[in-house]
Amino acid sequence: MKPVTSLVEALTLEEKVRLLTGRDLWSTSPIEKIGLRSIIVSDGPAGVRGTNWDERDPSLNFPSGSALAASWDLVLARRYGAALAAEARRKGVDVVLGPTVNLQRSPFGGRNFECFGEDPVLTADLAAAYVGGLQDHGVAAAVKHYVANDSETDRFTVDVRVAERVLREVYLLPFEKAVRESGAWLVMSSYNGVNGATMTENPLLETPLATEWGFDGVVISDWMAVRSLEAARAAQDLVMPGPDGPWGEALIAAVRRGEIDEAVVDRKVIRILTLAQRVGALSETPHQMSAEDGAALAREVAVEGTVLLENRDELPWDPARLKSVAVIGENAAWARTQGGGSAGVAPTRTVSPLDGVRAALPGVDVTYSPGAVLNQSVTELPLSGLTNPFTGEPGVRTRFRDASGVEIFAEDRLTTRLIYVGGDAPVSSSHSFELHTSYTPAEAGPVRLGFAVTGRARLYVDDLLFVEQDGPSAGHPLGAALTAAAPATDKWYLAAGRPVELRFVYDIASLGDSVDALFVRVGTQPVGGDDDDLLAEAARAATAADVALVVVGTNSLVESEGVDRESLALPGKQDELVKVVAAANPHTVVVVNSGGPVLLPWRHDVAALLIGHFGGQEFGHAIADVVLGTAEPGGRLAATWPAAETDAPVLDTTPRDGGIDYAEGVHVGHRAWLRQDVAPAYWFGSGRGYADIELLHAEAPETVGAGDTVTVDISLRNRSARPGKEVVQVYASRPDSTFDRPRRWLVGFAAIRLAAGESAEVAVEVPTRLFAHWDGDWCYEPGSYPLGIGTDAVDLPLSVNVTLIEHRSEGAGK
Ligand code: BGC
Repeated sequence: MKPVTSLVEALTLEEKVRLLTGRDLWSTSPIEKIGLRSIIVSDGPAGVRGTNWDERDPSLNFPSGSALAASWDLVLARRYGAALAAEARRKGVDVVLGPTVNLQRSPFGGRNFECFGEDPVLTADLAAAYVGGLQDHGVAAAVKHYVANDSETDRFTVDVRVAERVLREVYLLPFEKAVRESGAWLVMSSYNGVNGATMTENPLLETPLATEWGFDGVVISDWMAVRSLEAARAAQDLVMPGPDGPWGEALIAAVRRGEIDEAVVDRKVIRILTLAQRVGALSETPHQMSAEDGAALAREVAVEGTVLLENRDELPWDPARLKSVAVIGENAAWARTQGGGSAGVAPTRTVSPLDGVRAALPGVDVTYSPGAVLNQSVTELPLSGLTNPFTGEPGVRTRFRDASGVEIFAEDRLTTRLIYVGGDAPVSSSHSFELHTSYTPAEAGPVRLGFAVTGRARLYVDDLLFVEQDGPSAGHPLGAALTAAAPATDKWYLAAGRPVELRFVYDIASLGDSVDALFVRVGTQPVGGDDDDLLAEAARAATAADVALVVVGTNSLVESEGVDRESLALPGKQDELVKVVAAANPHTVVVVNSGGPVLLPWRHDVAALLIGHFGGQEFGHAIADVVLGTAEPGGRLAATWPAAETDAPVLDTTPRDGGIDYAEGVHVGHRAWLRQDVAPAYWFGSGRGYADIELLHAEAPETVGAGDTVTVDISLRNRSARPGKEVVQVYASRPDSTFDRPRRWLVGFAAIRLAAGESAEVAVEVPTRLFAHWDGDWCYEPGSYPLGIGTDAVDLPLSVNVTLIEHRSEGAGK
């Protein structure tokens, strides 16, 4: 194959510049004369959606980032990456837009579910493993969002003010590891600014990324993050999406006028062609890969990411002794398997905890009560009740019309929640959109029927106008628009088995010019006012059953891209629900189905408490595996969970004067909690299994050279008669340091599995780079570093002392 530099010589300036802006939403321009096909990118990061958001072409929906992080398992993260590679290949995708390696700096961060938790070291290791797993199979990772995109409020404009030391030691570390260790092929520049320069123009794209870390891949922009020609002078390589953008003609003219050197363009082109070579877009060398069963892996990750925080001799339940189980909670039947925004995929299937428990306990009486209303917005109608009036098959017909009312596109779909981003539908050339279906409710009862869209729309029921919205045209930033629309609904009484004709008409023109994405939700909203009945019914069901399983949580409207959270409390009356159920049945087990932390005021009053995170499509099976003891709850918290909102040391997600000051410096997550008197509900690293594993002894060399890695050998014993998993964590400290350091910080960890009664040794590698601090370069403060070894940020029964000496061995400086 020709070297890419010689291919560049064959291109005109116009061709080169065309390559620097996407061809459309999800691909780059092909250039036939050099044998270059289009490179296809896709979200990401907990599945591969492909270029269409379409339930007819579904994707594996893996547990979200915070669930994977809770496994603390790098081998699993690598397999997760490899499974995504297989999905990418199946969907014709070359680049997966992930992993998200920003930090859960504040518990209010809207995208916390996507991140790998609060800790830079855990995040960095998981990022490297994920990227390695993906790229080993010829599919590229785009590590995102570079950098300090840790909250969502005003994300397009917020300027993060953060000291260089803090950037290096905390927020850049995951990117550094993904690039230096796993050779990430892309990095995605974020919307926000850092210290006065928006990230697509920021000098951080050059240093440290290119110069120090040797990144030779592509800096891809977040969608619409490039806003100027100025970004072309920076180390920003690829503008997404396209075909329009601020470069194009303006860049060609600037080069022609001699304002921008053509070499600047060439460097970007070389990087894109290098990527093309890496993913096989310059030659048709199909990658062979044997994929493991994706659904089975999704289930395993969900189990490994489930954290057992309380267990008062309750779990695991013995299936042989159960006659009846009361499953309670809206999320028990409508499981949240993923968060909101661009990370979403159309799942192959979704196993709710109710489905999972029913499947695992065939002979047992499993009842269901919703208990509390949580989903305040419009939920799509169930496919089982929908008939496409044009075909008689399940589903809906959608139609696009031009300004004169002529139908220019129509298709048959399987959902009333439709997302047109890219794909075949002619959104930008259409004037209106229609959805037709016949809906036959399975159950009778009052609901609010309507839709949630931005702009002007109407819903007709049996040909009569039912709800109308004359909404303002709102901007459509990708991601936020998926969740932002307020519901427009009215009361309707459903008669079981009696079909109603629904016709939804959406005035696309009301959204303004150049609309290229459409988000439609037609369905029902719960009717308020019957909360007490729901609570009473749940309590009755709990009283009547041997045990109760309550699933509480958030949803993709509460935890979403585009918005930060307003509250950490569980939405609706879910706290009250747990209280009444726990009072009704002493065997009440609560599963929390949220991506980030929520408040758990009743945590001491329940028999057991599990954090299930957003557990992916197999979530329900995983919960059944864990509560019935078929599997160990493998998770340990990847973030510290506060007991009360105001206790959390770092809260701010709302910019002041256009900026957020990262005034806490390097004290993020548990490091910040360790500086204050108020303790959290649960520390970073917390969680336990069913087995009883004891940490016996730790040993490490007395001295280590700056830049070297020290190995801490830890012996453990499983004292119980069941196999188990432990996550051994090593925290460093530095008493009497000459500068401000965390009281304690994570420097190494290992997930280890022990058979019943087994003793074992585990070696945890601690790179001394994690003792160094940034002061214009990595500086090593010689002297004593006591290491605490244990199972969370405060439970550290073992310790060793390591003395750092100033020698720098060969190959140091990593
Ligand atoms: C998100 C990215 C995502 C991109 C494409 C943006 O709004 O911030 O994470 O990859 O959209 O969907």
